[in-house]
Amino acid sequence: MSSDSAGRHSVAPKRLAHKRKDSTRSTSLRASASRPGKAQLHILDHPLPAAAVSILRAKTTMPDLFRRHLQEISVLLFLEAARTWETKIIRVETPLAPCAGAMLPKPIVLVPILRAGLGMLDGIQRAAPDAAIGHVGLYRDAETLRPVSYYERVPVNVAAAQVLLLDPMLATGNTACEAASILKAQGGRNIQFLCVLACTAGVQQFQTEHPDVPIIAAAIDPELNDHGYIVPGLGDAGDRYFGTG
Ligand code: URA
Repeated sequence: MSSDSAGRHSVAPKRLAHKRKDSTRSTSLRASASRPGKAQLHILDHPLPAAAVSILRAKTTMPDLFRRHLQEISVLLFLEAARTWETKIIRVETPLAPCAGAMLPKPIVLVPILRAGLGMLDGIQRAAPDAAIGHVGLYRDAETLRPVSYYERVPVNVAAAQVLLLDPMLATGNTACEAASILKAQGGRNIQFLCVLACTAGVQQFQTEHPDVPIIAAAIDPELNDHGYIVPGLGDAGDRYFGTG
Protein backbone atom coordinates (compact mmCIF):
# COMPACT_ATOMS: atom_id res chain seq x y z
CA MET A 1 0.00 0.00 0.00
CA SER A 2 1.13 3.50 -0.58
CA SER A 3 -0.34 6.78 0.41
CA ASP A 4 -0.42 10.21 -1.05
CA SER A 5 0.42 13.39 0.80
CA ALA A 6 -3.07 13.49 2.34
CA GLY A 7 -2.63 10.02 3.83
CA ARG A 8 -5.00 8.37 1.37
CA HIS A 9 -4.30 4.77 0.49
CA SER A 10 -5.37 2.55 -2.26
CA VAL A 11 -5.01 -1.18 -2.53
CA ALA A 12 -3.08 -2.62 -5.42
CA PRO A 13 -5.25 -5.38 -6.92
CA LYS A 14 -2.22 -7.49 -7.85
CA ARG A 15 -1.47 -8.24 -4.20
CA LEU A 16 -5.02 -9.04 -3.19
CA ALA A 17 -4.87 -12.69 -4.16
CA HIS A 18 -1.77 -13.20 -2.05
CA LYS A 19 -2.44 -15.08 1.17
CA ARG A 20 -0.10 -14.81 4.13
CA LYS A 21 0.84 -17.97 5.94
CA ASP A 22 1.36 -16.14 9.22
CA SER A 23 -1.88 -14.26 9.75
CA THR A 24 -0.70 -12.79 13.05
CA ARG A 25 1.68 -10.49 11.22
CA SER A 26 0.48 -7.11 10.22
CA THR A 27 -0.50 -6.63 6.62
CA SER A 28 2.06 -5.50 4.13
CA LEU A 29 -0.28 -4.41 1.39
CA ARG A 30 1.33 -2.42 -1.29
CA ALA A 31 -0.54 0.70 -2.21
CA SER A 32 -0.15 2.83 -5.21
CA ALA A 33 -0.73 6.52 -5.37
CA SER A 34 -4.44 7.33 -5.29
CA ARG A 35 -5.86 6.66 -8.70
CA PRO A 36 -8.69 8.70 -10.12
CA GLY A 37 -11.93 6.75 -10.11
CA LYS A 38 -10.94 4.57 -7.17
CA ALA A 39 -12.51 5.17 -3.80
CA GLN A 40 -10.05 6.53 -1.30
CA LEU A 41 -9.00 4.27 1.53
CA HIS A 42 -8.02 6.13 4.69
CA ILE A 43 -6.44 4.09 7.47
CA LEU A 44 -6.18 5.81 10.84
CA ASP A 45 -2.53 6.19 11.66
CA HIS A 46 -2.59 7.00 15.34
CA PRO A 47 -1.68 5.26 18.62
CA LEU A 48 -5.13 5.63 20.18
CA PRO A 49 -7.12 3.65 17.60
CA ALA A 50 -4.20 1.20 17.27
CA ALA A 51 -4.41 0.42 20.99
CA ALA A 52 -8.20 0.31 20.99
CA VAL A 53 -8.31 -2.06 18.00
CA SER A 54 -5.96 -4.41 19.85
CA ILE A 55 -8.38 -4.48 22.78
CA LEU A 56 -11.24 -5.32 20.42
CA ARG A 57 -9.19 -8.08 18.83
CA ALA A 58 -8.28 -9.82 22.10
CA LYS A 59 -10.55 -12.80 22.68
CA THR A 60 -10.48 -12.14 26.41
CA THR A 61 -12.13 -8.71 26.02
CA MET A 62 -15.59 -8.79 27.56
CA PRO A 63 -18.60 -7.00 25.98
CA ASP A 64 -18.48 -3.97 28.33
CA LEU A 65 -14.91 -3.14 27.34
CA PHE A 66 -15.60 -4.08 23.72
CA ARG A 67 -18.49 -1.59 23.58
CA ARG A 68 -16.48 1.19 25.15
CA HIS A 69 -13.57 0.82 22.75
CA LEU A 70 -15.74 0.32 19.68
CA GLN A 71 -17.41 3.61 20.49
CA GLU A 72 -14.08 5.33 21.03
CA ILE A 73 -12.75 4.11 17.67
CA SER A 74 -15.99 5.15 15.97
CA VAL A 75 -15.56 8.73 17.17
CA LEU A 76 -12.00 8.77 15.83
CA LEU A 77 -13.23 7.43 12.48
CA PHE A 78 -15.93 10.11 12.47
CA LEU A 79 -13.34 12.83 13.05
CA GLU A 80 -11.25 11.51 10.18
CA ALA A 81 -14.27 11.33 7.89
CA ALA A 82 -15.20 14.91 8.71
CA ARG A 83 -11.73 16.22 7.92
CA THR A 84 -12.68 16.85 4.30
CA TRP A 85 -16.17 18.25 4.90
CA GLU A 86 -17.13 21.61 3.55
CA THR A 87 -17.60 24.34 6.16
CA LYS A 88 -19.31 27.67 5.84
CA ILE A 89 -17.69 30.72 7.43
CA ILE A 90 -20.00 32.49 9.82
CA ARG A 91 -19.72 35.49 12.11
CA VAL A 92 -19.83 34.71 15.83
CA GLU A 93 -20.24 37.24 18.64
CA THR A 94 -18.26 36.15 21.68
CA PRO A 95 -18.88 38.01 24.97
CA LEU A 96 -15.82 40.10 24.07
CA ALA A 97 -15.75 40.59 20.31
CA PRO A 98 -17.03 39.35 16.96
CA CYS A 99 -14.94 36.70 15.18
CA ALA A 100 -15.08 34.32 12.26
CA GLY A 101 -16.53 30.90 12.98
CA ALA A 102 -17.51 27.82 11.01
CA MET A 103 -20.65 25.78 10.51
CA LEU A 104 -21.40 22.58 8.62
CA PRO A 105 -23.86 23.41 5.85
CA LYS A 106 -24.87 19.82 5.14
CA PRO A 107 -27.01 17.80 7.55
CA ILE A 108 -25.42 14.58 8.79
CA VAL A 109 -27.08 11.21 8.31
CA LEU A 110 -25.73 8.14 10.08
CA VAL A 111 -26.70 4.75 8.69
CA PRO A 112 -25.61 1.72 10.71
CA ILE A 113 -25.86 -1.61 8.94
CA LEU A 114 -27.80 -3.86 11.33
CA ARG A 115 -26.79 -5.29 13.56
CA ALA A 116 -23.10 -4.68 14.25
CA GLY A 117 -23.20 -1.14 12.84
CA LEU A 118 -25.33 -0.16 15.84
CA GLY A 119 -22.20 -0.54 17.95
CA MET A 120 -20.66 2.45 16.19
CA LEU A 121 -23.66 4.69 16.67
CA ASP A 122 -23.52 5.75 20.33
CA GLY A 123 -20.11 7.40 20.21
CA ILE A 124 -20.75 9.20 16.92
CA GLN A 125 -24.15 10.38 18.10
CA ARG A 126 -22.53 12.03 21.08
CA ALA A 127 -20.20 13.89 18.69
CA ALA A 128 -23.03 14.73 16.26
CA PRO A 129 -26.20 14.91 18.34
CA ASP A 130 -28.25 16.52 15.57
CA ALA A 131 -27.51 13.75 13.04
CA ALA A 132 -30.48 11.89 11.61
CA ILE A 133 -30.28 8.11 11.81
CA GLY A 134 -31.23 5.67 9.09
CA HIS A 135 -31.08 1.89 9.28
CA VAL A 136 -30.26 -0.75 6.75
CA GLY A 137 -30.86 -4.35 7.76
CA LEU A 138 -28.83 -6.90 5.85
CA TYR A 139 -27.79 -10.36 6.80
CA ARG A 140 -25.34 -12.60 5.06
CA ASP A 141 -26.67 -15.81 3.66
CA ALA A 142 -24.45 -18.39 5.33
CA GLU A 143 -23.86 -20.34 2.13
CA THR A 144 -23.65 -17.75 -0.62
CA LEU A 145 -22.26 -15.00 1.67
CA ARG A 146 -24.53 -12.68 -0.35
CA PRO A 147 -26.41 -9.94 1.53
CA VAL A 148 -30.15 -10.23 1.95
CA SER A 149 -32.06 -7.03 2.77
CA TYR A 150 -34.74 -7.23 5.45
CA TYR A 151 -35.08 -3.58 6.54
CA GLU A 152 -34.46 -0.18 4.95
CA ARG A 153 -35.37 3.16 6.51
CA VAL A 154 -33.44 6.19 5.33
CA PRO A 155 -34.07 9.83 6.37
CA VAL A 156 -35.84 11.96 3.77
CA ASN A 157 -32.98 14.48 3.64
CA VAL A 158 -30.45 11.85 2.54
CA ALA A 159 -29.87 13.50 -0.87
CA ALA A 160 -28.70 16.76 0.72
CA ALA A 161 -26.82 15.13 3.59
CA GLN A 162 -23.32 13.98 4.36
CA VAL A 163 -24.02 10.29 4.83
CA LEU A 164 -21.92 7.98 6.98
CA LEU A 165 -22.49 4.29 6.41
CA LEU A 166 -21.38 2.33 9.49
CA ASP A 167 -20.27 -1.28 9.83
CA PRO A 168 -17.33 -2.36 12.00
CA MET A 169 -16.25 -5.05 9.49
CA LEU A 170 -15.58 -4.71 5.77
CA ALA A 171 -15.16 -8.41 5.01
CA THR A 172 -16.19 -9.74 1.59
CA GLY A 173 -17.52 -6.30 0.74
CA ASN A 174 -20.89 -7.71 -0.36
CA THR A 175 -22.88 -6.25 2.53
CA ALA A 176 -21.25 -2.82 2.39
CA CYS A 177 -21.69 -2.67 -1.40
CA GLU A 178 -25.36 -3.57 -1.13
CA ALA A 179 -25.93 -1.01 1.65
CA ALA A 180 -24.22 1.74 -0.36
CA SER A 181 -26.38 0.82 -3.37
CA ILE A 182 -29.50 1.08 -1.20
CA LEU A 183 -28.44 4.55 0.00
CA LYS A 184 -27.74 5.70 -3.56
CA ALA A 185 -31.10 4.32 -4.74
CA GLN A 186 -32.74 6.49 -2.06
CA GLY A 187 -30.86 9.57 -3.29
CA GLY A 188 -27.67 9.50 -1.17
CA ARG A 189 -24.81 11.24 -2.96
CA ASN A 190 -22.16 12.22 -0.41
CA ILE A 191 -21.47 8.90 1.23
CA GLN A 192 -18.51 7.76 3.31
CA PHE A 193 -18.07 4.24 4.67
CA LEU A 194 -16.66 3.87 8.19
CA CYS A 195 -15.38 0.54 9.48
CA VAL A 196 -13.00 -0.65 12.19
CA LEU A 197 -11.39 -3.50 10.26
CA ALA A 198 -11.20 -3.71 6.49
CA CYS A 199 -10.05 -6.77 4.60
CA THR A 200 -8.15 -6.32 1.37
CA ALA A 201 -10.63 -8.32 -0.70
CA GLY A 202 -13.52 -6.27 0.68
CA VAL A 203 -11.71 -3.03 -0.03
CA GLN A 204 -11.12 -4.06 -3.60
CA GLN A 205 -14.73 -5.10 -4.10
CA PHE A 206 -16.03 -1.87 -2.56
CA GLN A 207 -13.64 0.31 -4.54
CA THR A 208 -14.75 -1.42 -7.73
CA GLU A 209 -18.50 -1.09 -7.09
CA HIS A 210 -18.48 2.29 -5.34
CA PRO A 211 -15.42 4.24 -6.50
CA ASP A 212 -17.05 7.45 -5.33
CA VAL A 213 -17.42 6.36 -1.68
CA PRO A 214 -14.33 6.83 0.52
CA ILE A 215 -13.55 4.11 3.06
CA ILE A 216 -12.26 5.15 6.48
CA ALA A 217 -10.90 2.25 8.53
CA ALA A 218 -8.94 1.83 11.75
CA ALA A 219 -6.90 -1.14 10.46
CA ILE A 220 -6.62 -3.44 7.49
CA ASP A 221 -6.25 -7.22 7.67
CA PRO A 222 -4.96 -9.51 4.96
CA GLU A 223 -7.32 -12.45 4.76
CA LEU A 224 -10.81 -13.86 4.80
CA ASN A 225 -11.49 -17.40 5.94
CA ASP A 226 -13.90 -19.79 4.22
CA HIS A 227 -16.81 -18.42 6.27
CA GLY A 228 -16.17 -14.84 5.17
CA TYR A 229 -14.61 -13.83 8.49
CA ILE A 230 -11.67 -11.46 8.59
CA VAL A 231 -8.40 -13.07 9.76
CA PRO A 232 -6.94 -12.25 12.23
CA GLY A 233 -9.93 -9.93 12.69
CA LEU A 234 -11.83 -9.83 15.94
CA GLY A 235 -14.49 -12.50 15.47
CA ASP A 236 -18.16 -11.67 15.06
CA ALA A 237 -18.44 -7.98 15.88
CA GLY A 238 -22.20 -8.15 16.56
CA ASP A 239 -21.87 -11.09 18.92
CA ARG A 240 -18.99 -9.48 20.76
CA TYR A 241 -20.77 -6.13 21.09
CA PHE A 242 -24.12 -7.56 22.14
CA GLY A 243 -22.70 -10.42 24.22
CA THR A 244 -24.46 -13.04 22.13
CA GLY A 245 -21.39 -15.07 21.16
N1 URA B 1 -18.53 -9.84 10.25
C1 URA B 1 -17.95 -9.97 11.47
O1 URA B 1 -18.55 -9.67 12.48
N2 URA B 1 -16.69 -10.42 11.53
C2 URA B 1 -15.99 -10.76 10.43
O2 URA B 1 -14.84 -11.15 10.55
C3 URA B 1 -16.62 -10.61 9.17
C4 URA B 1 -17.89 -10.17 9.11
